[in-house]
Amino acid sequence: MSGQTHEGALWGGRFGSGPSYEMQRLSKSTHFDWRLVPYDLDATAAHATALKERGLMSADALATVLSALEKIGHDFQSEAIAPGEQDEDVHGWLERILIEAVGPAIGGSLRAGRSRNDQIATFIRLYMRDTSRAIRHILIELVRILISRSEEAGERVMPGRTHFQHAQPVLVAHYLLAHAWPLVRDISRIDDWAKRNNVSPYGGGALAGGGLGIDAEGIARELGFQGVMENSLDGTSSRDSVAEFLYITTQIGIDLSRLAEEIVILTSAEFGYMSLHDSYATGSSMMPQKKNPDIAELTRGKTGRLIGNLTGLLATLKALPLAYNRDLQEDKEPVFDSVDTLLLVMPAMAGMIASLTLNYERMEEQATKGFSLATDVADFLVEQGVPFRDAHEIVGQLVAHCESKGLELHECSDEELASISPHLTPATRSVMTAEASVARKSGVGGTAPDQVAKQRAALAALIESLDTD
Ligand code: ARG
Repeated sequence: MSGQTHEGALWGGRFGSGPSYEMQRLSKSTHFDWRLVPYDLDATAAHATALKERGLMSADALATVLSALEKIGHDFQSEAIAPGEQDEDVHGWLERILIEAVGPAIGGSLRAGRSRNDQIATFIRLYMRDTSRAIRHILIELVRILISRSEEAGERVMPGRTHFQHAQPVLVAHYLLAHAWPLVRDISRIDDWAKRNNVSPYGGGALAGGGLGIDAEGIARELGFQGVMENSLDGTSSRDSVAEFLYITTQIGIDLSRLAEEIVILTSAEFGYMSLHDSYATGSSMMPQKKNPDIAELTRGKTGRLIGNLTGLLATLKALPLAYNRDLQEDKEPVFDSVDTLLLVMPAMAGMIASLTLNYERMEEQATKGFSLATDVADFLVEQGVPFRDAHEIVGQLVAHCESKGLELHECSDEELASISPHLTPATRSVMTAEASVARKSGVGGTAPDQVAKQRAALAALIESLDTD
């Protein structure tokens, strides 16, 4: 088949032969761009309408096209159609079956005034817009779950850690909310990115802009965009919006992986701070006793793919000259994979967190271990007029003494305290409980119960103020 456009492709006239088998295999993208069919249908309907407005298509032909597109849409939804072997990409497929449905005269006229270059740049934006809403929805759900779990935790305490060593006691509620705030920032990242993403490259043609006077503004409005991109070279070839979207999906994975990692550790026998609900855990094929935190591990593991998708695309984009290059076809699979990954991971994490048992007694028992009240004792001495440098030294000696005797700070006798420093009066004991310790942290953002309650109220108000369409 030479000297003509072959079936399923949108080019061919200048070629003496059809594409080789290898060329076809490499070029083909229907196995992944198939999920963009709904956007191609919407844009093609808007395009046909614009062609009619411009006097390049009759009203009858438009009606024929619109009803054919509607039927194709139904068949797509019911999975009654699939791309053929010969279809190069979703755009070639659509033209082929439109021609089958409405004949070559009408079906072959829809390519006027547009290119796959502006089409595909538009469709990936639409796809990201839709799926970002779904991701955002689950983020809000996750934050709500963390808020409610934190409410439930009341004023229960647990060890707070730095360097993963005991540091200072914190409220369990404070800890849970600490995992909610990054997710709130991810929501705000999505909202901010959405503004930049929501401008249309459509009408940019292959690169230089439309030459047939088609109303790109009207098409943009029809597709729900804020406007049209100002530069057609930029519009058809930049993918920073895709890279930014992948960064956000990666950041969500990273944020969830931090909580996931802690769940793996804190559900182990050594910690026992939490236990998984049976329906959110797995067993072992060999060891009958096992109950494994696979959701948390898969969240942690799949974050690697999210990072890979982002860095892979960045490498593809680096140093690409203007305007469209075929390299850009590589933008889609990472986006699809990252979306699929998050839509698997996030609901599982939500269910696991909602059903987790928090073992408050165990956390409480550990809260003051590792001399985690030492800072409170030093702060107490400061309040008695001791310079912090000296207080630090004194409490350091107290810790060393306790460590050598195998005692906790509060287990020292009055005499032992006094022998280390006259400043360590029996009154010092008033700060030697986890409750006293958290109550002292009453600065903004601190773990004192009233601060945590305030924090939770602010977070809840923020979440309720978000639009959730
Ligand atoms: N499948 C292509 C992509 O995803 C569509 C654009 C192809 N354009 C071209 N001139 N070959 O980028």
